[in-house]
Amino acid sequence: MNANTAETNNVNESDSSGTAALDIAVAGGTGTLGRHVVEELRARGHRVRVLSRGSDRYPVDLSTGAGLAEALAGCDVVVDAANSTSPRTMRATLVDGTRRLLDAERAAGVGHHVCVSIVGCDRVPMPYYKVKTDQEALVAAGRVPWTIVRATQFHELAASLFTATARVRFLPASTSVPVQPVAAAEAARAVADAAGAAPRNGRIEVAGPDRTDLRALAATWRTTTARRAVLLPVPIPGRLGRALRAGHLTDASPDVRGTIGFAQWLEARRRTE
Ligand SMILES: NC(=O)c1ccc[n+]([C@@H]2O[C@H](COP(=O)([O-])OP(=O)(O)OC[C@H]3O[C@@H](n4cnc5c(N)ncnc54)[C@H](OP(=O)(O)O)[C@@H]3O)[C@@H](O)[C@H]2O)c1
Repeated sequence: MNANTAETNNVNESDSSGTAALDIAVAGGTGTLGRHVVEELRARGHRVRVLSRGSDRYPVDLSTGAGLAEALAGCDVVVDAANSTSPRTMRATLVDGTRRLLDAERAAGVGHHVCVSIVGCDRVPMPYYKVKTDQEALVAAGRVPWTIVRATQFHELAASLFTATARVRFLPASTSVPVQPVAAAEAARAVADAAGAAPRNGRIEVAGPDRTDLRALAATWRTTTARRAVLLPVPIPGRLGRALRAGHLTDASPDVRGTIGFAQWLEARRRTE
């Protein structure tokens, strides 16, 4: 069903909130966040297409546009949960890729573009965050009705950072950098809510339950995993350090607050390993 052609809506199909089932494409639907978004949308009765370079059914490359027209035909909503953090490819994937995605959405008559972004990306001077800010600006200036869902860092990201640095026996542990991580599964629920609702042409912020600091997070990781590593305060100089210390990666009153803290998330993951 296409949101722009209401007469084709099948009113007998609906999700648990009573919304008609939609055709939703999730770009990056195999990623850390995207796979939860896909699961969540399917559980709500929507018809979901997983778009990524490695997808069997809908292979799409945002950095070239290959596969987009075929993948979006008949779609109501597109969730962009694709990502690239490599300096070589991030702009081509996230900014030029968004431009390609929005053009293809216009051609396919898609009625809602949901962009996943990061709390504070416009206030923290890092090349990747500049790319995310430019991506947001394209979405907001585009002609497809939109919603931007900004999330804080995922527990998954914090855990993989600590796992990597623990290999060389240290954990970055500054007390002066406030953080407020959220489980990707909880952020995905907010993204699915946005995808099933009308476009806001505005932003929603999602953050974790606890505003803490990097040292406390590192200590929690060390205790829960019983790994040996030194907590090392890593000085972050200049504008970047000032922005991080100002707490720009956190949100004291988010629109959506997760309930699963880092310790609880780590414990749940340990039990399933
Ligand atoms: N990680 C965090 O802590 C965090 C926090 C807040 C917000 N976010 C935002 O959440 C979104 C998802 O991040 P994530 O960490 O879940 O990403 P991720 O785990 O790295 O997954 C990236 C996804 O994008 C796909 N992809 C990469 N390059 C592509 C391309 N050229 N064309 C099409 N698909 C491509 C990947 O599949 P293939 O490799 O098969 O193409 C994969 O499905 C991003 O917008 C990110 O900024 C992340």
